[in-house]
Amino acid sequence: MRVLSVASECVPLIKTGGLADVVGALPVALAGDGIDMRAMIPAYEGILEKLGEVEEVWADWNLYGGHAGLMKGTIGGVTVLALDAPYLYHRRGGPYADADGDYWDNPERFAALSWAAAAVAREGAGDGWKPDILHAHDWQAALAPTYLRYHGDGGVKSVLTIHNIAFQGVTGGDRLDSLRLPWHAWHPDKAEYHGNLSTLKAGLVTADAITTVSPTYAGELMRPEFGMGLEGVIAARAADLTGILNGVDEVTWNPETDPEIHPYSARNMKPKAANRAALIEEFGLGDVPGPLAIVVSRLTWQKGIDLLAEALPGFIAAGGGLVLLGSGEHGLEQAVRNAAARWPDRVAVRIGYDEPLAHRMFAGGDAVLVPSRFEPCGLTQLYGLKYGTVPVVAATGGLNDTVIGASPASLAANAATGIAFHPIDGIALAGALRQLVQLFDDRPAWAGLVKRAMKAEVGWSAPAAVYGALYRRLIA
Ligand code: ADP
Ligand code: GLC
Repeated sequence: MRVLSVASECVPLIKTGGLADVVGALPVALAGDGIDMRAMIPAYEGILEKLGEVEEVWADWNLYGGHAGLMKGTIGGVTVLALDAPYLYHRRGGPYADADGDYWDNPERFAALSWAAAAVAREGAGDGWKPDILHAHDWQAALAPTYLRYHGDGGVKSVLTIHNIAFQGVTGGDRLDSLRLPWHAWHPDKAEYHGNLSTLKAGLVTADAITTVSPTYAGELMRPEFGMGLEGVIAARAADLTGILNGVDEVTWNPETDPEIHPYSARNMKPKAANRAALIEEFGLGDVPGPLAIVVSRLTWQKGIDLLAEALPGFIAAGGGLVLLGSGEHGLEQAVRNAAARWPDRVAVRIGYDEPLAHRMFAGGDAVLVPSRFEPCGLTQLYGLKYGTVPVVAATGGLNDTVIGASPASLAANAATGIAFHPIDGIALAGALRQLVQLFDDRPAWAGLVKRAMKAEVGWSAPAAVYGALYRRLIA
């Protein structure tokens, strides 16, 4: 079976969040199941150089205003199709925005990606490769199923995965033509969305199947608190919706082989203490008698970073420490910097994006905090499990599906793998951090918790099998 996966990010070529990890990991995970998946992304500046030798497998003389070529290359064993259209994708800033904000032509930039994906799926690529399934991710690729539906599908079935409903590809209704949507799509049952257009909505009503990245989030999406206006659209398609958890790339994230750290395993935990000491030294912290917590995150409202301010004083007073790595909203960056200035011996902050440092933090931390207000899946709690860095999570979305929170019952049953709190506010987070301090002080209980965390199945084999079964159902 052949699957064309289309998205705006893919590790190791371009990443702003977990989407890239998933798009990069899926082809490898599915190969074992006999599925031949290619990943298609825009050729942002520098992508073709990273791919090295490439071959053009499709071209269009007028793809949303210019000549575009689809270039096939390989990286890490994955076949990548990079859409080379410099007039759309060579920009000074990141994939979506620069210092002045979002690019004004984002709707067309990603409609072009979706159009090319649908065309290649329908007609097949120049090297004879034609997919059975087109798998689109998020609003950037959501028009691909729509184009298959309205302009002919060539026998190809479509899947749309929602990684985050907060991003809906909303733009003015006057762009119907420029997005190459037929007039009949301007309807509340189709792409029209409160007087605007939403590419995500267009995809949700036209894809053959919909998935999202955890079973809990699949249910949450149908509720107004989480659906962000699209809850009704999703509820109407409940029968076609599946929640499939993300996995961890266990080659990159493995404490036994990680080149960034003193390697360790559940059987030999001694080096974890050396990693802790190294992290404390790297950040110039003083003695941390209680648990050393880490945060690796985008600094946004979604991630609940502001809740830390309320919960930190008690945690620090109880002996805890915090190392935080992230970047994002200015106010949140300032708030976490203020915390580091207030407790220089206990709190350290690095504003920026740094993968090797993230590895050293997971190895050196005792716990990883993920206080998200909503979290479709989340990857850092999975890294925490893998590295025996106990996840402290808000009980929502994928966090709820991947961490078994400590309670008298779950501890007695030897089932707990972390700490979970609800409701999602500063008071409950403070309570979770008190629980963390108590468990950390109870050496046998802590050792058991860490061991079970490290035993949790967080790889791609189970989720890959579910995707495989879904694809097979669609083409049966
Ligand atoms: P989201 O995609 O919503 O940001 P995820 O938890 O799914 O959340 O994925 C985030 C990914 O980005 C993880 O791989 C995480 O390690 C990584 N990440 C986030 N911020 C940073 C940072 N500042 N430095 C390095 N890696 C980061
Ligand atoms: C989104 C979500 C995150 C998820 C990631 C990959 O960025 O915010 O929870 O893990 O996509 O699916």
